[in-house]
Amino acid sequence: MHIHAYEKLWLAASVLLILLLLGSVTYGAVGPGVAMVSDSEPAIDAGGLDEDERFSEPRVEQVGENEYEAYVVAFQFGFQPDPIVVPEDSTVTFYVTSRDVIHGFEVAGTNANTMVVPGEVAEITVETDGAAEYGIVCNEYCGAGHHGMEGKLEVVS
Ligand code: CUA
Repeated sequence: MHIHAYEKLWLAASVLLILLLLGSVTYGAVGPGVAMVSDSEPAIDAGGLDEDERFSEPRVEQVGENEYEAYVVAFQFGFQPDPIVVPEDSTVTFYVTSRDVIHGFEVAGTNANTMVVPGEVAEITVETDGAAEYGIVCNEYCGAGHHGMEGKLEVVS
């Protein structure tokens, strides 16, 4: 009897997880200036970020005419680079990982929002329009400095 109930619980938990994952990739485009269009999460060694070619130097790279990739590291309690500077009218894919615990990466006031899990690379793509400044906030409790954990995204012309 006990085992049976346990299995049901696990089944319910996995279904919930799948629904949450589906939900996280099907956001609509809303919010001023920055709109998230996709996300996904490949794996990485959280303890080896200093040797990782993408994350040893967190940065923004131009990869096409209007395309950029931002490699961002979240940590207790901030984000690198800070600020993250990207051009207006461009497509920016953020690759975000954590060097310690679970954080959040949310471009405040937009729908660009993902959980940042150590050992995983959260990938979110946004489209920028006009020049503007956005706060980046962590919305996963990550320790004593959680409430002060913030960064800045500068969309420049
Ligand atoms: Cu990082 Cu909360």
